[in-house]
Amino acid sequence: MTCLSKISFAKPKGAGKDRFQIMSKKSDFGLIGLAVMGQNLVLNVESRGFQVSVYNRTTSVTDEFIAKHPGKALVGAHTLEEFVQSLAMPRKIHIMVKSTAVADSDRDAVDAVIEQLIPLLAKDDIIIDGGNSFYKTTERRDVYLAEKGLRFIGAGVSGGEEGARKGPSIMPGGPASTWEVMKPIFESIAAKVDGEPCVIHIGPGGAGHYVKMIHNGIEYGDMQLICEAYNIFKHAGFTTDEMAAIFNEWNEGAMQSYLIQISGKALEQKDPETGASIVELIVDKAGQKGTGQWTLMNAAENGIVISTINAAVEARILSSKKKARVAASKLLTGPAVNITTAKAELVKKVHDALYASKIISYAQGLDLIKSMGEAKKWGLDLGRIASIWRGGCIIRARFLNSITDAYRENPELSNLMLAPFFIDVLTQTQQNWREVVSLATLNGIPCPAFSASLGYYDSYRAERLPANLLQAQRDFFGAHTYERTDKPEGQMFHTDWPEVIG
Ligand code: 6PG
Repeated sequence: MTCLSKISFAKPKGAGKDRFQIMSKKSDFGLIGLAVMGQNLVLNVESRGFQVSVYNRTTSVTDEFIAKHPGKALVGAHTLEEFVQSLAMPRKIHIMVKSTAVADSDRDAVDAVIEQLIPLLAKDDIIIDGGNSFYKTTERRDVYLAEKGLRFIGAGVSGGEEGARKGPSIMPGGPASTWEVMKPIFESIAAKVDGEPCVIHIGPGGAGHYVKMIHNGIEYGDMQLICEAYNIFKHAGFTTDEMAAIFNEWNEGAMQSYLIQISGKALEQKDPETGASIVELIVDKAGQKGTGQWTLMNAAENGIVISTINAAVEARILSSKKKARVAASKLLTGPAVNITTAKAELVKKVHDALYASKIISYAQGLDLIKSMGEAKKWGLDLGRIASIWRGGCIIRARFLNSITDAYRENPELSNLMLAPFFIDVLTQTQQNWREVVSLATLNGIPCPAFSASLGYYDSYRAERLPANLLQAQRDFFGAHTYERTDKPEGQMFHTDWPEVIG
């Protein structure tokens, strides 16, 4: 691929014509939205031999970006018209603008950019939305743009700023024929694991953004579980340096993952001003931008249990109620913390609790993807989805190899926990897992995600749950009827329960 050696446009507005005259070729790719992720993605695409045009609403940002990268095959446009004209056809325009639209009637910044682009584009040009858009919004845009004769890809992009620059994991959804056009660029910029690019065509319509949303739900689960491990160590008297060393060591084993790695690094970090651990100086109020809550809403809509992810989202919500917690801490009592387990033993136990809970979190997220994929007839391939999460993305982890293998061996696997490899891990880790949940509970240390995971595991494997009594209650007060263990399935019964007074 030949590229321009340098095009820099720090000229005043209105100088667009001159700029086009000096271009020797049109760009292969265009990106709108030069926040850090957008900038890094541009540099990534450019570094693979593509010429990239960029546009940002605030033109000084464009000029600064171009000026900062002399010698690169970049074209900075001051207007959308210039930007569109600078692109080779079919145009490939990647939007990196924050999307907030959830309800059908919502319109956001991405819609605004799309509206501005439509009159400038030609049939079959491609718009890619690379933000964290809600999958139903993506479906709406897909239909709308198809009516206009344009092609649309809703692509989840994971990996943060570093991933965008060096190679993210990309989850594109949309028509397979549009994916074929985008494939060379996406495959070249994506992270690689064993030579395989961390990008596949996920499925039609909103499938890509949907899978990215669940990726984020799993990310919430992973992060919360790691925080619960840290909290137990902290209550047991470990120093931040000791905890950093534990995470660093775990990062060499079965739990090797980006999130374990950065947790170790974060715990090592000292505040230059005070010399104290920076983590301990950070206020314990977690933020969230919405993908975790969307995941919960979707799980409820589909009747799928994602209790670990649920606990993780709710833990963030409760953390944000700092004032209420501080007030309650003075009124509500709990046990005095008294952990006597030897440190090395506790590390092993917490390791196992974290590993087992993490498996449950992925099992739940993948179960939701499976169920939704079937309902929407998206033809999702769970093994391939797990395989593109092995690199580039925030949840990249060694054990995604085992998840990939589990689905490759059995594409019909009903739940990840039931793959032989994971049955084995859950069998080996569960005693320590149970001990950690009880130790935390007895010491009053909250571990909502550890215990939700264990509750899921024990419920899922229970041949008989107490829902028989629940059915009796429903029939008692509402004549909702029930099935009997000694009668054929589907046959419904009702009992004339005694009248209750008072
Ligand atoms: C990724 C991340 C990213 C995430 C943001 C904000 O895969 O790169 O998932 O897309 O959305 O980091 O997430 P919260 O603010 O909701 O934690």
